Amino acid sequence: MATYRIAPSLLSADFARLGEEVRDVVAAGADWLHFDVMDNHYVPNLTFGPMVCQALRKHCPVPIDVHLMVEPVDALATAFAKAGANVISFHPDASTHVDRTLQLIRGEGCQAGLVFNPAAPLDVLEWVIDKVDLVLVMSVNPGFGGQGFIDSALRKVERARRLIEASGRDIRLEVDGGIKVENIRRVADAGADTFVAGSAIFGQPDYKAVIDAMRRALA
Ligand code: DX5
Ligand code: ZN
Repeated sequence: MATYRIAPSLLSADFARLGEEVRDVVAAGADWLHFDVMDNHYVPNLTFGPMVCQALRKHCPVPIDVHLMVEPVDALATAFAKAGANVISFHPDASTHVDRTLQLIRGEGCQAGLVFNPAAPLDVLEWVIDKVDLVLVMSVNPGFGGQGFIDSALRKVERARRLIEASGRDIRLEVDGGIKVENIRRVADAGADTFVAGSAIFGQPDYKAVIDAMRRALA
């Protein structure tokens, strides 16, 4: 049976109390901390950089899962590795040399992930799957929290699961956007093992109640 991981996205946290929010969500049972990096160029929003990641590192006993929505990728990927990230994912269309960027991230001692937007094909995986530790399927268009789940992502998750199985490699399959207690089971049934949730967790008063409910839905 799959080991499911829940990765709350800090994007929906109270930015005025980030350290406290990280401690609270970890105490509530977060497996990973999802860290959405937006540059107002690749996506029309701007969040936080490596200095914030470094500052939060000491408040965060679980892996930090950095989702780079930035273009270009390489310099920031290196900076996040040095700031204590454990997993670093990027959008292949934002890097001129995808294979090189994957090698760069792994060379820094991090796990490397590729992120696929709702309209993006998985084709590139055929050529670099031997260098990928995580596949992240977007179920919303990147840039904002609180959007509705795009159903075609489920078919993409199924397809990604088949490619991962065929590779025989230990690759996590993460889904990001619009995940809630009500739909997490469907996303798992499609083949996902790692679930990002921003507004569903940080938008509620009791983080543990939501994470527990998600685990019950997955059980
Ligand atoms: C969107 C981000 C997501 C976002 C998810 O660009 O990548 O991680 O925080 O937020 P919800 O769970 O609210 O859709
Ligand atoms: Zn994300």
